Amino acid sequence: MVDLGYGATAVTTLELASRLHRRYPNVRVLGLEIDPERVERALPYADPPRIDFARGGFELAGRAPQLVRAMNVLRQYDEAPALAAWDEIVARLAPGGLLVEGTCDEIGRVGTWVLVDADGPQSLTLSCSTEHLQRPEILAERLPKALIHHNVPGENIHRLITALGAAWDTSAGLSVFSHRQRWAASVARLAEQGWPVQDGPRRWRLGELTVDWTAVG
Ligand SMILES: C[S@@+](CC[C@H](N)C(=O)[O-])C[C@H]1O[C@@H](n2cnc3c(N)ncnc32)[C@H](O)[C@@H]1O
Repeated sequence: MVDLGYGATAVTTLELASRLHRRYPNVRVLGLEIDPERVERALPYADPPRIDFARGGFELAGRAPQLVRAMNVLRQYDEAPALAAWDEIVARLAPGGLLVEGTCDEIGRVGTWVLVDADGPQSLTLSCSTEHLQRPEILAERLPKALIHHNVPGENIHRLITALGAAWDTSAGLSVFSHRQRWAASVARLAEQGWPVQDGPRRWRLGELTVDWTAVG
């Protein structure tokens, strides 16, 4: 897999690799950066073939990975080039490969991502540390580039964020137990209302909400 645009230090790639290797010991993780100084800084942490770093961009340095993660990379781009980057990356994936493209806050308590495959975007996930969540509307600040400028009345993503906020209010009684329960109940409420919510309570309780892309795109 490729961690595209891993940033100023190797840490995000190393952390991802350590989590993946627990479950999939043979996964090869390659951090790619467009900035050569960042590649130089990360290389001492390489442990090929399990973890490596190289210079590269949307062309994926000529590789054909099964999975690409690009977090907080496309936010720097305008919307049209960001959408073009999806196509460019996905065209280079191995058959059946996936791109996870998203944005999070600086300490990772609030994040969102889109799952993209050869047929285009498939789903949007909103994710939060429920323990630290004041209100779910905060997620709007961290929407992927494809959606962030569309969070205005009349657009689907705005309808979703508004419905999630209303469900959060309606589920207020559960906050005496935990924000985790309040979040899971809010997601369940959206599913009852007919939103194409994926997964089930197990993932909802982790602070996730995943909907089909058709509901927001
Ligand atoms: C804000 S940092 C994100 C770091 C890390 N992914 C994270 O979420 O903490 C964005 C990084 O993307 C890199 N970047 C921007 N455009 C890129 C491209 N086309 N290909 C590879 N890296 C790129 C930048 O050099 C920068 O290091």
